[in-house]
Amino acid sequence: MNFSLPLMANNITAEDRAAVIEFLKGDPILTQASNVRAFEQEWSAWLGVRHSVFVNSGASANFITMAALRHLHGPGEVIVPTLTWVSDISSVLAAGHKPVFMDVNPRTLAMDPRQVGAALNPNTRAVFLTHCQGFDGLDDALLAELQKRHIPLIEDVCESHGATHRGQKAGSFGLASNFSFYFAHHMSTIEGGMVCTDDEDFHQAARMLRSHGMVRESDNPEFRKKWEDASPDLNPKFIFAWPTGNYRSTEINAVIGRSQLKRLDANNRRRTENFQLFLSLLDPALYWTDFQVEGSVNYAFNLVMNKPDEALRDRLMAAMDAHGIEHRRGSAGGGNQLRQPYLAGIAPEKADIPRLFPVIDHIHFFGFYIGNYPSLDADRIRWLCGILNSVRP
Ligand SMILES: Cc1ncc(COP(=O)(O)O)c(C=O)c1O
Repeated sequence: MNFSLPLMANNITAEDRAAVIEFLKGDPILTQASNVRAFEQEWSAWLGVRHSVFVNSGASANFITMAALRHLHGPGEVIVPTLTWVSDISSVLAAGHKPVFMDVNPRTLAMDPRQVGAALNPNTRAVFLTHCQGFDGLDDALLAELQKRHIPLIEDVCESHGATHRGQKAGSFGLASNFSFYFAHHMSTIEGGMVCTDDEDFHQAARMLRSHGMVRESDNPEFRKKWEDASPDLNPKFIFAWPTGNYRSTEINAVIGRSQLKRLDANNRRRTENFQLFLSLLDPALYWTDFQVEGSVNYAFNLVMNKPDEALRDRLMAAMDAHGIEHRRGSAGGGNQLRQPYLAGIAPEKADIPRLFPVIDHIHFFGFYIGNYPSLDADRIRWLCGILNSVRP
C-alpha cells in the first residue's frame, strides 16, 4: 500500500551513499575494522560516555547487555517495562534472569518509577528502563534510590537518541545503555546497534560477547591475562569465555553511521518542533496531550484516546486508513508485552492483566503511533491533526 503519511521516509540519503561509494573505491577491508572503531569513538563523544561497542542490531545490544550483566553480576531479577520491544524481555530470559514487569507512566510511557521503587529487593540485579518513543523516562527519586542501593540502571535508548534528562543525554546515566540504528529510528546504519558504558569491565565483556565470547576481542591486556592464566591448556587466540553468538556489524554500516551522526542533532531539532506542533493541535478532549515533553526527541506522534471506546477507535482507524496515514496500534513494539505469546506462562493470566496493568493495557487497545520525521512540514501536521480531531464520539 502507498501511504500518504508513512511511518518513516527513507533516511539513507545521497550523502550517505556517496560516503559508502568513496569508501569502497579504496579496496578496503569490509569486516569490522577502523571505521567501526571510529564510529564507536564518535558515538561515545556524542553521547558523553567512555566506551561504545557497535553491533548489528538493537536487539543484539540488548542480548549482549543482559548476558554481560549475568556474567559480571550474576543472575537475578531484572525489572522491565510492559511497553517496550520484545528483545528487552527475551534478552532477560535468555541470560537466565527473571523479568519483573512494571506498568507505564502515562506522561513518559516509561516504567512507572513508584512501582519500580516498591519492587526493588536484594535479588534485583538491574532496572532495565526503556526510553519509549523519544521521551525522557528517568526520574530523580528513582535514580537516587538505585544509587543508594547500588542497583544498576540499564537504559534502552533504541527509540530516543538525543533525549535528555536535566540536560544530560539519556543513555549516559546507567551502568550501560543500548541504541538501535534500524531504519525507522532517529538515525540508521540500515541495521545496527550500540552498547555504551563507562564501566571498563562491562566494556570488555561487551566486546567479547559481540564476537563468539572470544578473549582476544578484549582490548585490555589485564582483562585478557586473567582468562589466559586460567586456561594454560588453550591457545590464547582461541579462548571462548562465555556462550554467545556473532553480533558484529561491518565497515559499510559504520561508514553510514558516521555520515548519519553528522545530521542527527539537526534532524532531532526538526522532530521536536514537529512533535510540539502535533501536541498543540491535537484535541485534548479526545486524546492524551499531557506528555512530559521536557528533554524529549520523538520519532513518533503518540496518539492515545482518552476513552476506551472501541467503536470510536474503529472509526479512527478507518479514517487513518482512508487517508493513507500509516499507524501502529499498541504504540511501540506491539503494545502490552504481557499479552504476547512468548510470555505465556511467565506473564499473569490475561483476565488479570487489565486490573494489574491498567495504563499499558489502555495503550495496547487505544494507543497508536504515527511517523514523525524531519521532512514533514507544518502543513502536513495540520492536515494530520485535522483528520484525527474530526473523528468524534
Ligand atoms: C526499545 C527497543 N529496543 C530494542 C529494539 C531492537 O532494535 P533492532 O530493531 O535494531 O533490533 C527496538 C526496535 O525497534 C526497540 O524499539
